Amino acid sequence: MTQLIFLGPPGAGKGTQSQKLAQSLQIPHISTGDILRQAMKDQTPLGVKAQSYVDSGELVPDELVQDLVQERLGQADAQSGWILDGFPRKVSQAEFLAKLLETIHQAGERVVNLDVPDDVVVARLLARGRKDDSEEVIRRRLEIYRSETAPLINYYRDRQKLLTVNGNQSPEEVTDALHKVIAF
Ligand code: AP5
Repeated sequence: MTQLIFLGPPGAGKGTQSQKLAQSLQIPHISTGDILRQAMKDQTPLGVKAQSYVDSGELVPDELVQDLVQERLGQADAQSGWILDGFPRKVSQAEFLAKLLETIHQAGERVVNLDVPDDVVVARLLARGRKDDSEEVIRRRLEIYRSETAPLINYYRDRQKLLTVNGNQSPEEVTDALHKVIAF
């Protein structure tokens, strides 16, 4: 059963690669960012609570994303594998996930770290222009990545779950590298 977590700075290509991989493996692609953006568009209670955080590049409170991940991993289509894109994003979320996966007997997760330098991700995001891709908000997302999310690289390395892929090459080359590392 494939259970993969995608880690990497904003603009590393997590969404691009994890969607393609999920499609080829026929498992759900679970992106907390996509779920939050849809909830904001639909103005659901979750979307209303998340809006100001997402717009300013801050992390939304743990309970909101943890609840949605727990609910999503409990759905029928996630019982034979999944890819998580954008969760966990801090050590408290990783600890929550570890407990959850143990409880539901799915503790075989591996973590793909997409490694891309800051100047490259900033250029990619400015070229894309999503609502939270203004220069100021990108800068804040990168700061939060460094302080909150990057420590997860060591967290998962220490637990022998980390796979690293050079994300600073063409999307096709990243896909090939990714298939190679997850084959082991
Ligand atoms: P989220 O949607 O997860 O945003 P992010 O991590 O900032 O990631 P991005 O979608 O910007 O980048 P990506 O790595 O997926 O790259 P992509 O493939 O799109 O989260 C948004 C917000 O939601 C957060 O700021 C936070 O507020 C909230 N949130 C989400 N999860 C949360 C959590 N767990 N806890 C708390 N809050 C949470 O690619 C980017 C661009 O680069 C695209 O244009 C793409 O075409 C291009 N590109 C991709 N690969 C390549 C390549 N190899 N070469 C050239 N261009 C490429």
